[in-house]
Amino acid sequence: MTDETDATWWRQAAVYQIYPRSFADANADGIGDLPGIRSRIPYLRSLGIDAVWPSPFYPSALADGGYDVDDYRDVDPRLGTLDDVDALIADLHAAGIRLIVDIVPNHTSNRHAWFVDALASPRGSAARNRYIFRDGLGANGELPPADWTSAFGGPAWEPVGDGQWYLHYFAKEQPDLNWDNREVRDDFLTTLRFWSDRGVDGFRIDVAHGLAKKLDKTLPSQADLDATPKNNGGHPLWDRDEVHEIYAEWRSVFNSYSPPRTAVAEAWVESHRVPRYASPEGLGQAFNFDLLRANFEADAFRRVVEDNLALAAESGSSTTWVLSNHDVVRHATRYGLPEPTEPIEKHGHAWLLTGGVSPVLDAERGLRRARAATLFELALPGSAYLYQGEELGLHEVPDIPAERRQDPAFFRNPGVEIGRDGCRVPLPWTTDRPSFGFGAAHAHLPQPDWFASMAVSVQDDNPDSTLALYRRALELRRRLQTSEDLEWLDSAPDVVRFRRPNGWETIINFGGEPVELPAGTVLLSSSPLTGRQLPAETTVWLQQGPPAIS
Ligand code: NOJ
Ligand code: CA
Repeated sequence: MTDETDATWWRQAAVYQIYPRSFADANADGIGDLPGIRSRIPYLRSLGIDAVWPSPFYPSALADGGYDVDDYRDVDPRLGTLDDVDALIADLHAAGIRLIVDIVPNHTSNRHAWFVDALASPRGSAARNRYIFRDGLGANGELPPADWTSAFGGPAWEPVGDGQWYLHYFAKEQPDLNWDNREVRDDFLTTLRFWSDRGVDGFRIDVAHGLAKKLDKTLPSQADLDATPKNNGGHPLWDRDEVHEIYAEWRSVFNSYSPPRTAVAEAWVESHRVPRYASPEGLGQAFNFDLLRANFEADAFRRVVEDNLALAAESGSSTTWVLSNHDVVRHATRYGLPEPTEPIEKHGHAWLLTGGVSPVLDAERGLRRARAATLFELALPGSAYLYQGEELGLHEVPDIPAERRQDPAFFRNPGVEIGRDGCRVPLPWTTDRPSFGFGAAHAHLPQPDWFASMAVSVQDDNPDSTLALYRRALELRRRLQTSEDLEWLDSAPDVVRFRRPNGWETIINFGGEPVELPAGTVLLSSSPLTGRQLPAETTVWLQQGPPAIS
């Protein structure tokens, strides 16, 4: 049973992200669903996670994998019903697992009742004022109001046929909401209460840095937008200071529950701007994607940890660690690809999205490094957000045929981005076709033959499997996370070493040669040990002093 009196459970939680349509299919239609998740609660329990965060399960045409929401207070009938949510919450809580719901406030889908209403209503109407409509340029408004590019490529303004255009920073099926409109604000407060009243424990906030926008009568050009700094709250679209007024209101809703509902911001902002999202007056926690963007290198990893622990302290929160999620190439694959020759920041999202198809993947090395990075991550103070399938050591699926792909990033950016479907392929539970135990039908994205060798059933009883490593690590972590402090220890080049106050020590060798393993009782190793040697690209957990745990 979850402890209802624990208001700080999230500070060092291990949160498991589920991509609902690709987790488990209970009714043989090829699409994962809520009863499927429910049926796998014993698995989630055996993994030892504290909470699950399913990506959106709302009604959606899936123009963007469910991040195009038709109705924020309902469930996609293909995935289940509100009763299924209630049953899921009850069963998860009985198993001691909390539930985090994904809120998508920057945009609705174009099938949302509000947007249907906006299209049916004239310019200047209250219905259009819930979104961001502008008159087009040219004699009859036939030209877009600005030349902006959407995040998935292609134009960010779409005409509606009467001389007006609407803003969609993502796909054209995702019209941006007007957060200056009180009705929009109130409706999201209602949504947060709706899920909180049902017993949901927390929220993950999509594009949290995008809601507040300042759009004057004359819009800037894309070149102007690109040239405007994003580090001072003054950019017209991103990370404006006013966004925090919205989250202050949300905070009062969260704090009206016991324990207070939690939230984590997905905010791709400059580091020094993160603490405001994570503050106790705001959302309370924010994603830190720095580890995910760092090369597998000692200096890079150590710097990321130092910086983010300092930022978390500044915000009065704990930090978050992410190596994989539904938007990026799986970390086992990233680490098996040649390192980019330019800083990853320069490649931004695109580098992460395009990495999956390289013919030069060293799959074994990628997995070895991924296991090492995971043990490093799980030893750090703060919350760890794990993505379904990483516990199996899954690689990205690079070779999905174009006609089976679903991600708008693939379609809107032909030849540039391969898209994110490769990390969203339904999980292999067993070795059996048609869908490796995902369900009784073929899965909605094709699963490769090599999934059989990575199936849960194959790894379940193998003590050397990646699944066994995750289970053991999460079990130890649960008992060893007794404080949020960390002390760095001296180490050789290519090696990073730190200790928690209870003597739990972590040492990671990023280099290609083994180094001597320091004294201490070995608790866990990411690759097999021989003698007192720390192998290349390996992390070991040690216990110094008397064993804190058995
Ligand atoms: C971030 C989500 O993680 C991603 O999957 C989605 O495409 C965009 N936000 C737009 O909602
Ligand atoms: Ca189904």
